[in-house]
Amino acid sequence: MNDVMLRFVHISDTHFSHDPNYNRDYAAYIPAVGTRALVEQLNALPFTPDFVLHTGDVAYDPLPEAYPVARDVLSKIKYPTYYIAGNHDDPAALQTIVMGRDDIATPLHYEVEINGAQIVCVDSNGPAEPPAGFVTDEQLAWLRALCEADDDRPLIVAIHHNVVEVGVPWLDEWMGITNGDAVHQALRPARQRLRGVFFGHVHQNLTIVRDGILYSSVLSSWAQLHAWPGMTRTTPDIGAEPGFNVVTITREQTFIRHHRFAVDV
Ligand SMILES: [Fe+2]
Repeated sequence: MNDVMLRFVHISDTHFSHDPNYNRDYAAYIPAVGTRALVEQLNALPFTPDFVLHTGDVAYDPLPEAYPVARDVLSKIKYPTYYIAGNHDDPAALQTIVMGRDDIATPLHYEVEINGAQIVCVDSNGPAEPPAGFVTDEQLAWLRALCEADDDRPLIVAIHHNVVEVGVPWLDEWMGITNGDAVHQALRPARQRLRGVFFGHVHQNLTIVRDGILYSSVLSSWAQLHAWPGMTRTTPDIGAEPGFNVVTITREQTFIRHHRFAVDV
């Protein structure tokens, strides 16, 4: 496979807290323990990813004091790392403390080009009752313009919340983007070059294809959720290992490989 353009690692939902004892009864260890183990895994990979993509919920709650520990752990990642904000994040603290930005972008959306691919990071934290998401008209216009542009670069989109239906009412009606259809329609003009929409928030691996557009989520480094067909809501996946996804973009295809790892508690 010598036509690889880009290879990145998708991580999400680290849920750092400033409280060294913070945990929930559905998690086997505190968030920082899981992410330290994740960072060890990433730094020991037998290849060099072009970047790491963190699709949000860096912190457990939008409290600025949660971010110094996040920075201390995540800054040890050996590769460039890109972030978007989740519903649990304080976007300003995320940008100043973890991303090292002087200017705070509101909303936190941006695009970068890496190895000839276009990476577009969308902020889905518009007005909505958390944990739901919303993408504002301003952002939709920005996204639509990007997707309608005369551009043949492979396109990768990152967004925190689930955009399209995933078949679990609790995720679709309570956790998702309330105007997800509008986001999907904004993306559609780019579907020939759109290699994937990568999201977090759901704490599980999900793969959805709609109108030829791939939507792919990833496990948390802390606690996982699960649902079988027919269930109306997810259930804590107690004891499930955390993980990360390795995404490879070639001239012709997108490959996603799911990895899990054990955490010593
Ligand atoms: Fe979230």
